[in-house]
Amino acid sequence: MPVPIELRAVSHAYKTDSGPLPVLRDLNIKMAEGSFTAVVGPSGCGKSTLTRLIAGLMRPDEGQVWLGGEIVTSPRATVGMAFQNPVLLEWRSILQNVMLPLEIVKNKLSKSQREDRARQLLALVGLEGFEDKRPSELSGGMRQRASLCRSIVHRPQVLILDEPFGALDAFTREDLWQTMHDLRSEEPFTCLLITHDLRESVFLADEVVVLSGRPATAQYKLTVDLGDNRKIDDLYTAKAVDMLATLRHQIEVAQGRAPAEAAE
Ligand SMILES: Nc1ncnc2c1ncn2[C@@H]1O[C@H](COP(=O)(O)OP(=O)(O)OP(=O)(O)O)[C@@H](O)[C@H]1O
Ligand SMILES: [Mg+2]
Repeated sequence: MPVPIELRAVSHAYKTDSGPLPVLRDLNIKMAEGSFTAVVGPSGCGKSTLTRLIAGLMRPDEGQVWLGGEIVTSPRATVGMAFQNPVLLEWRSILQNVMLPLEIVKNKLSKSQREDRARQLLALVGLEGFEDKRPSELSGGMRQRASLCRSIVHRPQVLILDEPFGALDAFTREDLWQTMHDLRSEEPFTCLLITHDLRESVFLADEVVVLSGRPATAQYKLTVDLGDNRKIDDLYTAKAVDMLATLRHQIEVAQGRAPAEAAE
């Protein structure tokens, strides 16, 4: 079952040769269970750092990350992750790649149940018939679909996506947005999406958090009220265009290119 994610007063700095590099400063974000939050912000502001802290790969210098009422101190099997470049194993078929987490994460499924689960997800993202192919036989978009299946096959409570669609062409990307949106109604998880693409954030998320420049703090939060059953055309409605303009302005503020006073 999905769990809430909460960052409480999180601050973090990396140790570098030229001294500490403060990356996150007093960051507070709440994500309700089952919600979808997108985080946008200037390049290098600390978005991937945020994902590492939530995944328990690092601990913050100050503050805490809470997952479902527990402080995160180490990596958990109940978190799924996907990145810009899906790392699929070439010596395994697509089906075997998707089944991989079920071989690693403790579960009670039999071999045939694992296979059924993987097949069901692949069908859900439109990869029925490609189960026995090798990763190199698939297009980039198809590989990313397979990677998404792999990230949720073990039914994680939390799904972390760090620019998963960033390397795809515009049309393939929109197809995958729709797939991701539809997947959400079938699979329960609390999702954090890192993206550079404001349209992507508005299409997929319930809430968009704009991070300021480094050291990043939550500069602006936007609630996206486009409903639960979204289509790409919704991005061309006046409501969506308004939200995109607001976010674009906030990014300019974060980059120091527009004065904060003009912000809403
Ligand atoms: N392991 C590390 N050691 C030292 N500095 C680091 C380390 N990882 C990241 N940084 C620095 O911390 C800052 C934030 O990095 P991070 O990868 O979190 O940014 P980001 O917002 O994900 O960037 P992008 O949008 O380009 O993906 C950057 O200045 C980066 O150079
Ligand atoms: Mg990053």
